[in-house]
Amino acid sequence: MKLDALIPAPLRRPAKPGEAKVGRGPAPADLKSSPPERPSDAERISGSAKEAPADVLAWVDQRTAASGFLTGLLYRKVPKGTNWFYTLGSATLFAFIVQATTGVFLAMFYTPSTSDAYASIAHINNDVFLGSFVHGMHKWGSSVMVILVFLHMGRTFFFGAYKYPRELNWVIGVVLLILTMTMAFTGYLLPFDQRSFWASVVGININGTGPVLGPYLSDFLRAGPEIGATTLSRFYSIHMLLVPGAIIALIGAHLYLVVKLGTTAPPWVRTAKPKGASPTAQLDAAGSGNGGQASR
Ligand code: HEM
Repeated sequence: MKLDALIPAPLRRPAKPGEAKVGRGPAPADLKSSPPERPSDAERISGSAKEAPADVLAWVDQRTAASGFLTGLLYRKVPKGTNWFYTLGSATLFAFIVQATTGVFLAMFYTPSTSDAYASIAHINNDVFLGSFVHGMHKWGSSVMVILVFLHMGRTFFFGAYKYPRELNWVIGVVLLILTMTMAFTGYLLPFDQRSFWASVVGININGTGPVLGPYLSDFLRAGPEIGATTLSRFYSIHMLLVPGAIIALIGAHLYLVVKLGTTAPPWVRTAKPKGASPTAQLDAAGSGNGGQASR
């Protein structure tokens, strides 16, 4: 079965001129002398079974009109010169999805109490089916996400994507960066072993050295005079609920703006300023992203 059959008609990529199959191929057979063979029942049933996924998608589409949105999203034009560096944002998103998924499974077995946290992690690693694998993915995945978010920020910075009209998306990105670091920091305490305990002492003290708000921030994080049960509960709720919720909402806004504004062309394919053009012409062309230089 061709893959196209699985995609409802409105979602299929529109045929380019001359590509369409309509009106091509051999002329129809003489229907009087050689009538078409009727398909057997088995053929008809297997035919409908093959069409079922496309039918289900079409059923949902008729009731949601989602295909218009998806077609705009999937077939939107991107600037000439788009390259592998543009995948870093999606890679960060993928890393976040992996963290969220593995985190849900870890939360099924983790106990956020000073007396049981370490033992619950040991239980996950030693006894739970695929536990050490899922824990390892989450632990290494946090570093992967932090590295990717920095690389993605570097790409947007060096390609000038922070300039008009994408300043707001840059600001949302900065908040996402801080939230990603907060996830890594609050997650580190959760195993409650010697290393995570003392690393958190250092981290909280570093926060306390910040100007004006620093001491308040470290008091808030410690949740008491010493790191203890209340600190662990606070870190757990920040790590599990507060920050992931904020990240999901901000990623939504971030991607909405990416789709709305398009991506920035690499600096080396920006349109040259035409002779006699207004002084802002080049800026406008660069800011328009999908503008004149668009290609599929
Ligand atoms: C959880 C973290 C983040 C996720 C999941 C994310 C995701 C994405 C995705 C999928 C894109 C479109 C594809 C691309 O250009 O790579 C994008 C674009 C963009 N991101 Fe992020 N991003 C994150 C963090 C950041 C950070 C930290 C910054 C900067 C401080 C940032 C600034 C931008 C900008 C300015 C664009 C527009 C790029 C352009 O116009 O070419 N993002 N982001």
